[in-house]
Amino acid sequence: MKKYIFIAVFCFAAVFIISSNFAFATASGPKLFKKYYCIDCHTLGHEGGTVGPDLSYIGKTKSLSWIKAQIFHPSSHFIIGTKTEINGKVYLIRMPGFKTIPNSVANKLAEYIKTFPSIRANLSYKRPPKGMRLFEKDNCIACHRIDGVGGKVGPNLSHVGKTKSLSWIEAQIVDPKVHFRYGVPTTVNGHTYLVIMPEFKHISASQLNTIARYLKSLK
Ligand code: HEC
Ligand code: HEC
Repeated sequence: MKKYIFIAVFCFAAVFIISSNFAFATASGPKLFKKYYCIDCHTLGHEGGTVGPDLSYIGKTKSLSWIKAQIFHPSSHFIIGTKTEINGKVYLIRMPGFKTIPNSVANKLAEYIKTFPSIRANLSYKRPPKGMRLFEKDNCIACHRIDGVGGKVGPNLSHVGKTKSLSWIEAQIVDPKVHFRYGVPTTVNGHTYLVIMPEFKHISASQLNTIARYLKSLK
C-alpha cells in the first residue's frame, strides 16, 4: 500500500513539474511574439505577417508603456482601425486587444519589441556565401535551381554535392562536354531539346573554385 502511495505522489509531482514548466515559466520574447499570434499580423525583424504594421522600427518612436498599452487596449491609440490593402482590396483592420495576457508577460513582450531595431536582429540576417552570389552573378541560376530558386533548363543542383566530387564539378563548369558529350534531353515548353551546358572558360581559377566548393557543400 505504501508503495502505491509513493508512486502516486511521485507521478503527481512529475506531472506538476512538467506542466508548470509549460504554464508558468515565462517564455522568451520571440516565443511570446509567436504564442500570442502577434507574428501572424506583424513583421518584426525578418519574419512575420503584413496585416498589421511592420514593428521592426517601433522602438525608435514609441515608449515601452505605449507598446504595453497597445497590447491591452489598441482602441485607445487607434480609434477607427487602420486601412490595409489585402489582395488588392482595402479593409479597415483593428488589432484585437489581448486583455487576458498576464501583466508580467505583457511587460516581457513589450520589452522585447522595444529592442527593435536592434543590432542583434540585423546581424541575424546572414549574408549569402560568396559561391552563392557568384552562382547568381555568372547566371548559372538562369538554368539551375537550388532550393526551389532558379531556372529549369539544367538539372536541379540542390543536392549535387552528395554525388559529385569537387574536381568533377570544376570540370563540368569549364568543359561540360567531358561529362555530357551530346547534351541532356530537356523539355522546354513541350518540346524536347538536347541541351548542352555552355562552357565557362573565361572564369578565373579562384572564382571557379569558390562556386565549385559552394556546390560541393550542397548535400
Ligand atoms: C489580427 C491582426 C493583429 C494581431 C494578431 C496583432 N496585431 Fe498589433 N496591430 C494590428 C493592426 C491592424 C494595427 C494597426 C492599429 C489598429 O488599427 O488597431 C496594429 C498595431 C500594433 C502596434 C502599433 C504599431 C504602430 O506602428 O503604431 C503594436 C506595437 C502592436 N500592434 C503590437 C502587437 C502585439 C505585441 C501583438 C501580439 C500580442 C499584436 N500586435 C497582435 C493587427 C494585429
Ligand atoms: C544555358 C543553361 C545553363 C547554364 C547557364 C549553366 N548550366 Fe549547368 N547544366 C546545364 C545543363 C543542360 C546540364 C546537364 C548536362 C549537360 O548537358 O551539360 C548542366 C549540368 C550541370 C552540372 C551537373 C549536374 C548533375 O547533377 O549532373 C553542374 C554541377 C552544373 N551544371 C553547374 C553549373 C554552374 C556552376 C553554372 C554557372 C557557372 C552553370 N551550370 C550554368 C545548363 C546550364
